[in-house]
Amino acid sequence: MNSQDFIKMEDEYGAHNYHPLDVVIKEANGVWVTDVDGKKYLDCLAAYSAVNQGHCHPKILEVFIEQAHKVTLTSRAFRNDQLPLLYKKLHDMTGYDMFLPMNSGAEAVETAIKLCRRWAYDVKKLPENKAEIIVADGNFHGRTTTIVGMSDDPDSYKGFGPYVEWAFPMHKFGDLEDLKSKITPNTAGILVEPIQGEGGVVVPPDGYLKGIADICKERNILFLCDEIQAGLGRSGKLFAHYYENVRPDIVIIGKALSGGFLPVSGVLADKEIMLTIKPGEHGSTFGGSPLAAAVALKALEVIEEENLVQRSFDLGAYFVEKLRTIKSPHIKQIRGKGLWIGFVLDQKARPYVLKLQEEGLLCKDTHETIIRFAPPLIITKEQIDWAVERIEKVVHEFDK
Ligand SMILES: Cc1ncc(COP(=O)(O)O)c(C=O)c1O
Repeated sequence: MNSQDFIKMEDEYGAHNYHPLDVVIKEANGVWVTDVDGKKYLDCLAAYSAVNQGHCHPKILEVFIEQAHKVTLTSRAFRNDQLPLLYKKLHDMTGYDMFLPMNSGAEAVETAIKLCRRWAYDVKKLPENKAEIIVADGNFHGRTTTIVGMSDDPDSYKGFGPYVEWAFPMHKFGDLEDLKSKITPNTAGILVEPIQGEGGVVVPPDGYLKGIADICKERNILFLCDEIQAGLGRSGKLFAHYYENVRPDIVIIGKALSGGFLPVSGVLADKEIMLTIKPGEHGSTFGGSPLAAAVALKALEVIEEENLVQRSFDLGAYFVEKLRTIKSPHIKQIRGKGLWIGFVLDQKARPYVLKLQEEGLLCKDTHETIIRFAPPLIITKEQIDWAVERIEKVVHEFDK
């Protein structure tokens, strides 16, 4: 079967809830992926930052196979010998007391919402069923029915209601005055991405996260930080909120937590918050499985061993600097932090993305005019040079 055969079969028998590029990937290694026709591409999306460690990282693969031979799933009805090691590692790396494991990012966000509400009723003593969590415009936190109700993107929410709109008041991302105006006596939490990923790598103004942290402290509100895409090195820090030296009350992680091997996500918090949820009140059959825990532990070790956070910081600066040498009337802005770059055009980005695909570089357009470059953090300077050459060539093709 060639690419066209696979695409036809997929479109015939699979739901059409995505609009993928017509590239059918068969294998991948490091920063490179290969399609079924044998063409090789440099991956500048890294599965939306889930493969920060690079595709099929050999050390994570080894642990994955080794653990799969022993025991993959026990359910949380029994304990396993891997999960405590992951808990301890996350505690040591982040300083939070505890971790609650789930699978997808959206589940982890749901978990954070539940924790925040439970804390609000048990500790802050809000009246039952009145807790509000303030969110930001342009947010992306996942696709569950509660979460899409927090979105202002019609593609996310339209046709999937009803929603409890008052439960998630929305403020303007980056605007502390607007945020303050949305606070009521029933505000339990403020949930933001430290940098909006799906929104197009939108970096808020300096002082915004610090401002949220201060407001939360003053008003006895929890600061919930969604680091699912921004975290674990992508932004050039272990967490993007480190740029403002703040400590959110709840940090939500996922994606690169498994290096792309399986869905692993979860929530970090201190005991005062985490222990408000009691046995039997939340969980997941697969969350915290021995396979997930073993893989996540190794994925975290790889981030440390290979110095991926600093690499992201240094090489991200290098990538941006090189991109800024490309002169074109259609480039509006190049922004981002670490190896996470929003390349903003004044026209549709999809044609650029398709041309880049022809040139052997895979990336993704978002919000019509933005291309996101987010390669695995193991990328080298030479590979960035190679990418920038292709990007420059394609940009100039559209200048003609
Ligand atoms: C910031 C953020 N939160 C949550 C999610 C949802 O994660 P998942 O697709 O694993 O449910 C994403 C996915 O892109 C994300 O970027």
